[in-house]
Amino acid sequence: MLLNSTTPAKTIGIVSGKGGVGKSNISTNLSILMGEADKKVLLFDMDIGMGNIHILLGSHHKYSIMDYIEGREPEIENIICENVHGISYISAGNGLKSIVEWKEEQIQRFFEAMDYLVLRYDVIFFDMGAGATRETLDFLLTMEQIMVVTTPEPTSITDAYSMMKYIHLRDEEKEFYLVCNRAENRQEGMATIKRLQETIRKFLGKEVTPLGILPEDPAVRKAVSQQTPLIRSFPRAPITMSLHTLASNFLSETENIAGQEKKPSFLKNIKNLFFRR
Ligand SMILES: Nc1ncnc2c1ncn2[C@@H]1O[C@H](COP(=O)(O)OP(=O)(O)OP(=O)(O)O)[C@@H](O)[C@H]1O
Ligand SMILES: [Mg+2]
Repeated sequence: MLLNSTTPAKTIGIVSGKGGVGKSNISTNLSILMGEADKKVLLFDMDIGMGNIHILLGSHHKYSIMDYIEGREPEIENIICENVHGISYISAGNGLKSIVEWKEEQIQRFFEAMDYLVLRYDVIFFDMGAGATRETLDFLLTMEQIMVVTTPEPTSITDAYSMMKYIHLRDEEKEFYLVCNRAENRQEGMATIKRLQETIRKFLGKEVTPLGILPEDPAVRKAVSQQTPLIRSFPRAPITMSLHTLASNFLSETENIAGQEKKPSFLKNIKNLFFRR
């Protein structure tokens, strides 16, 4: 495999407060759209024990990152499932939750894997699982950007706020993108985003970037049962149109960031995470 460039990959964690809001569908389809925009994309399934990216992509891979970390598979290349709808993906497997219990040798392998991955991709999306543990939340803090997905439901909005507050209290510099999924109409989506934006401004004194509104669309469930990515099986569905807008907003946002002052890198953050233990 060729190196993309000497610029490390952008790292984006996709999270929610409440589970089941559409993170995996959004990260899968957004990754494919980034691939279509000529980015070298890695989608990292972080849903411990319950990963479903392989189902959404309609592709199964033998190894997970844990097989590499625990030494069952010595080659990192073999962990990556390449060229699925134009992207690569990695499954987290079981056991990533025990980061705090890793031995020195396992930590070293994890660093090596991340060192390798950030130089081979332009963008790495981490699809986070529903049940956030301390370790997965700490890992989230190492990523450069956080995409928070909510639905218009009040409980989803409240939980999204709590998640952002948790992260903000540990790193005030962290950038947040907001996505509202399952909106009945545009007005409902806008009102959801506005409510979160205003709460964050008022209580955390922070600005967050709205990235898009995705409609409630039966195509999502149909695509999941067909095990084919939504944007491929329903190219003209309303949600596919909105995903295209989301992808182009994401592209222009991240290209803006490229011109900004360099923040501490993902790799440096990961190393700090372990040294803090
Ligand atoms: N825009 C939408 N319109 C209709 N149904 C949707 C939409 N988005 C998600 N869903 C439904 O919600 C289900 C869960 O979506 P998904 O698995 O992407 O959520 P998740 O946030 O990754 O869940 P978890 O927190 O468990 O990882 C989908 O299988 C689909 O049935
Ligand atoms: Mg998921």
